[in-house]
Amino acid sequence: MKKLLFLAVILFCMGVNMEAQTGTQKILVAYFSWSGNAKALAGQIAGETGGELFEIKTVTVYPDTYNECIAVAKEEQNRNARPALSGSVANMAQYSTVILCYPNWWGTLPMGVFTFLEAYDFSGKTIYPLVTHGGSRFGRSLEDLKKLCPRAVIGEGLSVSAFDTNPKDATRVTTPNRDITSWLRKIGLVR
Ligand SMILES: Cc1cc2nc3c(=O)[nH]c(=O)nc-3n(C[C@H](O)[C@H](O)[C@H](O)COP(=O)(O)O)c2cc1C
Repeated sequence: MKKLLFLAVILFCMGVNMEAQTGTQKILVAYFSWSGNAKALAGQIAGETGGELFEIKTVTVYPDTYNECIAVAKEEQNRNARPALSGSVANMAQYSTVILCYPNWWGTLPMGVFTFLEAYDFSGKTIYPLVTHGGSRFGRSLEDLKKLCPRAVIGEGLSVSAFDTNPKDATRVTTPNRDITSWLRKIGLVR
């Protein structure tokens, strides 16, 4: 009897250990990008983690020229807009981890990312923020993220400097970006 109990304990411990080693968490890499920086980094992150990519896209497309785009974005922020999105995540419940990639727009998340974060229940999920910026790093986006997802765990983020004053799609980051790889290791999403 004692032997059987001992065997059961060993098998149970092996099972727990196997689960920890294989890691059952599913990762969503959600990104919003206008000129391509966050998109390029999100692509690298998905490649290194095996996460699934999802683009946060607004129905109304932003203007292609920088000055026009910042004017539209400022106006949206001033009226606390929630621009409609053109797609949705099929089954958010299956993801335990969300890596959220976005550019700093006027000191925080683009308003379309506000729409995205309010559309799902992030309770119990861990969100890792990745911001690309022209000098302001996260700005106040982390505070806003916490307010938008009060029941999510906000994990350690990373900011990557990449400023564009050029037209849309003038991506400035080069990939693979080594800071991304080190960050993914540090937060335990890759070995
Ligand atoms: C509408 C708009 C607003 C921006 N506001 C800021 C800002 O407040 N602070 C900052 O550091 N960079 C700001 N930037 C620069 C972007 O954060 C930076 O170029 C980023 O890398 C762009 O990412 P993307 O290529 O994924 O769109 C702004 C850019 C745009 C288009």
